[in-house]
Amino acid sequence: MNKLTWSIGSILLGSTLIFGFTSLSLQADSLFEKKEHHENERDDDDEKGEHQRQSRISGSSSPSNKLYIEECGACHVAYPAGLLPKKSWNKIMTNLENHFDENAELDAQTGKQLSSYLNRYALDSGNSGRLRKMLRNFPKNTPVRITKLPYFIRKHDEIPARMVKGNPKVGSFSQCDKCHQGAQQGDFEEDRVKIPGFGRWED
Ligand code: HEC
Ligand code: HEC
Repeated sequence: MNKLTWSIGSILLGSTLIFGFTSLSLQADSLFEKKEHHENERDDDDEKGEHQRQSRISGSSSPSNKLYIEECGACHVAYPAGLLPKKSWNKIMTNLENHFDENAELDAQTGKQLSSYLNRYALDSGNSGRLRKMLRNFPKNTPVRITKLPYFIRKHDEIPARMVKGNPKVGSFSQCDKCHQGAQQGDFEEDRVKIPGFGRWED
């Protein structure tokens, strides 16, 4: 090969390579932009999804929700229906005169309306969303306490007693809304937990 052919060859090869790289990186850039765009879209969807999920759990779109909050939110947060399955709600609703050492009896009409509301939004294996995990290892004896469910216990077992029982601003795990400020609406996101007197939960 003589010198001239060699240098023409290198120039040609060099420019092909440079051109190739430039167009490759241009392509990569636009791919990246597309991906970013996609992610933004997903965020919006997530937010919408979050609202829908919460309303499915708390039944907040149901007209009976107001009555439920009035009647069942007087002594503690009105626990969103999606936290317990039908059979647990039915056990609670048929034993209200003997409700955790309190009398929470309702007139028949109200009781019936709230039972059907709870049944409609109850925890169900057909539900989407993460609360379905509440059904994991669900005890056979129809528990009436959310705080006794295996999934609940597993999620809360790292929280020291001084932040709960020993914390006059909380008192017990039954007071969901003390730490999950959006509990009544069905918001139990880990990254929105704030424990009174201790602040945000970081794990
Ligand atoms: C008169 C007060 C009062 C009313 C009204 C009341 N409750 Fe309760 N409820 C309690 C008490 C007290 C506990 C036990 C809380 C504790 O151990 O800290 C409890 C606990 C519960 C729990 C178990 C929470 C846990 O620890 O996992 C559920 C579920 C529940 N109530 C549902 C209802 C429903 C549904 C209604 C309405 C039909 C209702 N409650 C109305 C007093 C009341
Ligand atoms: C003392 C504060 C406190 C109370 C009271 C409390 N929680 Fe929590 N909860 C937490 C913390 C902290 C976490 C996050 C634990 C972790 O990092 O795994 C959590 C996590 C959860 C999760 C999992 C969320 C997820 O993103 O997977 C659910 C569901 C939940 N709690 C439901 C409840 C319910 C229902 C009640 C009331 C019956 C309740 N919690 C009462 C502090 C509390």
